[in-house]
Amino acid sequence: DRKPRVLSGIQPTSDSFHLGNYLGALRQWVALQDVADAFYMVVDLHAITVEHEPKVLHERSRVSAAQLMALGVDPERSALFVQSQVPEHPMLAWIMGAQTGFGEAGRMTQFKDKSAKQERTTVGLFTYPILQAADILLYQTDQVPVGEDQRQHLELTRDLAIRFNGTYGQTFTVPDAYIVKETATIKDLAEPEKKMSKSSASPRGCVYLLDEPNQMRKKIKSAVTDSDAEVRYDPERKPGVSNLMNIYAALGSTTLDKIEAEYAGRGYGDFKGDLAEVVADSLGPIAARTKEYLADRAELDRILAKGAEKARQVASRTLAKAYKKIGF
Ligand code: ADP
Ligand code: NA
Repeated sequence: DRKPRVLSGIQPTSDSFHLGNYLGALRQWVALQDVADAFYMVVDLHAITVEHEPKVLHERSRVSAAQLMALGVDPERSALFVQSQVPEHPMLAWIMGAQTGFGEAGRMTQFKDKSAKQERTTVGLFTYPILQAADILLYQTDQVPVGEDQRQHLELTRDLAIRFNGTYGQTFTVPDAYIVKETATIKDLAEPEKKMSKSSASPRGCVYLLDEPNQMRKKIKSAVTDSDAEVRYDPERKPGVSNLMNIYAALGSTTLDKIEAEYAGRGYGDFKGDLAEVVADSLGPIAARTKEYLADRAELDRILAKGAEKARQVASRTLAKAYKKIGF
């Protein structure tokens, strides 16, 4: 029996990942390494679906890989690679595109959100979920650790795998999304009805993993809550404080009940102050570790080349299988 196969990716589209990426996905990446055969990638092919600067993209791919290692992705145990170094990804994407209905692709809500923010929308942004399906199916993936915003893309991936298998014979493992409920959507600190994102409207809305610890503290302390000053979990009516409680429970290894009990009758000041310390303590060391990995570029590139080689061994086998099934 093989260990479950796990795969996930993250875009190198900012200088730093954020707390939503970490709690929604990256923390699970690290934990799953203990029980799974894991493939983790920096998805630079996805990053070019919106405007980009070549030099910046190259650098961000390296900074992204270094951050993943700083968080605990271990390239000795998991394949860590950059997507563009494995040409099987766009090759299988073409095949999956030929399985995808135009209307089916048109229903992807993330495309609607992202294209609304662009001056000029590309076909690449439209077909992004098809490349993502190929990313996943190439590795015969069982589980895909992601945040809630990826659920619809995972459903499409499953539909495409089932359809291909039905038409051409068993070829792909049908993957499951691996979404941790409590941290599936971390909310923006300034607008807690929205998800935390690098495109947050307020500079206080998003905590970056590479922020200075004092910046992190300030952002937590100025998070929007409500006027009744009661630390109580109620995501519907108290989205701000409930979001902070989810962050506290995850990073502080505690529970929502314990947090409510601890801060009963004490108001938001103490709670936010303590959470600010928990956040600064947990995320503070990541910046220095990232810097260390970036200091030796030759070693970093060697690690990524090795990861790509490991990935290609699996990806090329799946692609060959799909080629044969489809009549090439
Ligand atoms: P972004 O959403 O910032 O553009 P990505 O699309 O590269 O980042 O997402 C990387 C991973 O982080 C995905 O698995 C995504 O679901 C997860 N993620 C992003 N934002 C959040 C959030 N606010 N809460 C939980 N998970 C998130
Ligand atoms: Na996202």
